[in-house]
Amino acid sequence: MVHPEPVPMYLRAAFCLVLLLMLVSAVAAPLPNQSPDRTEGTVNCASSTCHGSITPLEGSDVLQNEYTTWLRLDRHTQAYAVLLNERSRSIAHKLGLKTPAHTTQLCLDCHSHAPPPSRRGKRHVLTEGVGCEGCHGPAEKWLAGHAEEGASHARNLSQGLYPTERPAAQARLCLSCHFGDDSRFVSHRLMGAGHPRLSFEVKTFTSLEPAHFRIDADYRKRKGNPEALKVWAVGQAVAVTHLLETLTDPKRGRQGPFPELVLFDCYSCHHPMSEKRWSPRLGVGPGALRLNDSNLLMLRAIVRAVLPGQSASFDAEVHALHLAVATGEAPPGMDYLDLARALTQRIKDLIPALERQHYGPEVMRRVLVALVEESRQSSFTDYAGAEQAYMAITSLVNDLVPRSVAVDKAALRGAMSRLLDVLADDEHYQPAVFQAALEDLRGLLHAPAP
Ligand code: HEC
Ligand code: HEC
Ligand code: HEC
Ligand code: HEC
Repeated sequence: MVHPEPVPMYLRAAFCLVLLLMLVSAVAAPLPNQSPDRTEGTVNCASSTCHGSITPLEGSDVLQNEYTTWLRLDRHTQAYAVLLNERSRSIAHKLGLKTPAHTTQLCLDCHSHAPPPSRRGKRHVLTEGVGCEGCHGPAEKWLAGHAEEGASHARNLSQGLYPTERPAAQARLCLSCHFGDDSRFVSHRLMGAGHPRLSFEVKTFTSLEPAHFRIDADYRKRKGNPEALKVWAVGQAVAVTHLLETLTDPKRGRQGPFPELVLFDCYSCHHPMSEKRWSPRLGVGPGALRLNDSNLLMLRAIVRAVLPGQSASFDAEVHALHLAVATGEAPPGMDYLDLARALTQRIKDLIPALERQHYGPEVMRRVLVALVEESRQSSFTDYAGAEQAYMAITSLVNDLVPRSVAVDKAALRGAMSRLLDVLADDEHYQPAVFQAALEDLRGLLHAPAP
């Protein structure tokens, strides 16, 4: 009888690691508001020897003044307070809420960290707004051990720390409040009552939020290199999946006989009839409702720059969805919902490739060229698309310019501020002026012609 060779120890260990990695990547971590664990309260993080130091501590992996930065500078500390202001009172009144905004779960879902009461520890308070555990996940299982000798990031993650350092997970977290998901959402009804339009881009907003972490050699060793363009690209893909999943969700996709209106370009309805602003766009004819495709346009540019082999078929799928939404035309046996579901799956399959990609200066240039090309196809005729393009271009220019010596910085500032000027008035946005400024910018950066 032949005995099988025993599998060497190192291979078995490696195989276990593969299994573990597959598990970690296959099962998306629950968002902080949906975690089964108990939230312990920001006060637990605030001691000066933990995260409440006044200045960054030398010789520590992390800054340890995260709480101080958050408390003094981060707008998330105000998220609850805005529920007490006049605008919130008016929103609550117009919606006919039975309780004031600051005690209504609908509002607290995003303006605080408000898990179900059974999962709130004694020291957790709602009034602090979006605190540490609202992003890093309830600390029940990792609080005691995460600063011990022998603690590791992997162990913290297995104990419920949310993986904020992974681009797709971070995007899902931010977008769950800054766009909404199946657990919280700002519908057109809320906007009609006066809630501001939500406009978001992960990379830009991460830079806007005063950073309580420092990306240095030690950070990269522990968590990898968070390339700015990767955070942007993955963020766009995740944003599109949020939009399409809302469109196809029978609970949220409709409002009476109409689809949920926040999924469409606001200004396709909200402008005076005397302003004849229609122009040909992505094959959608006049008088039709246009999907808010601002993130889809970014994603088209990303696919063209990063995965050129997939670009033609991706564009075709996007185009088919647009047509189906605007006119009802779809391939036999399908409707716009089938097309939206297929596109969602395709984008989910793309995300790992976007996460693996290295985004060096050459890729940055290609993305910039692809964005200019989008504008030549008159894609940025809607304000929201132009706004997304501007946020992308700002990040690209900030990252590219230090590397390209030859650029005329004064002229570049001029072109950037012209772009911004066009966006100052969302209700009277002029696409042609935006495109002209974009062409100037491309010339300045010597991007090769597409
Ligand atoms: C899906 C998440 C979500 C829900 C639900 C939500 N909001 Fe908001 N709200 C936000 C975000 C995100 C912002 C910040 C927008 C920005 O600045 O980009 C905001 C902004 C606001 C503002 C403007 C804040 C300011 O600084 O001027 C008010 C007022 C407001 N919300 C009130 C409410 C009220 C009242 C409710 C409940 C009826 C509510 N919100 C429900 C996410 C949400
Ligand atoms: C709006 C979401 C948000 C809130 C609120 C928030 N963080 Fe963070 N935090 C992040 C993100 C994003 C990162 C960067 C990605 C990463 O390293 O995980 C980060 C990174 C960190 C890091 C890791 C730094 C490193 O070098 O590894 C620590 C420590 C931290 N935060 C502590 C805190 C504490 C303490 C609070 C509360 C006072 C807090 N955070 C509140 C989103 C948030
Ligand atoms: C639990 C919900 C929630 C999560 C998660 C969240 N935010 Fe926010 N965020 C808000 C709310 C609500 C506001 C508005 C606060 C206000 O108006 O004072 C806000 C405001 C902001 C602002 C200030 C915007 C402005 O107009 O000045 C930035 C920047 C921001 N968030 C970035 C992020 C980033 C980046 C992430 C993900 C790492 C994130 N947020 C995750 C709810 C959230
Ligand atoms: C399909 C058309 C359509 C789209 C798309 C649409 N809206 Fe509306 N909106 C309406 C209608 C209809 C009303 C109700 C007007 C009324 O009561 O006079 C309304 C009302 C509003 C109001 C209240 C205006 C008032 O006079 O009180 C706001 C604010 C608003 N919408 C914002 C938005 C935002 C922001 C978006 C995009 C995210 C958007 N709308 C997308 C059709 C639309």
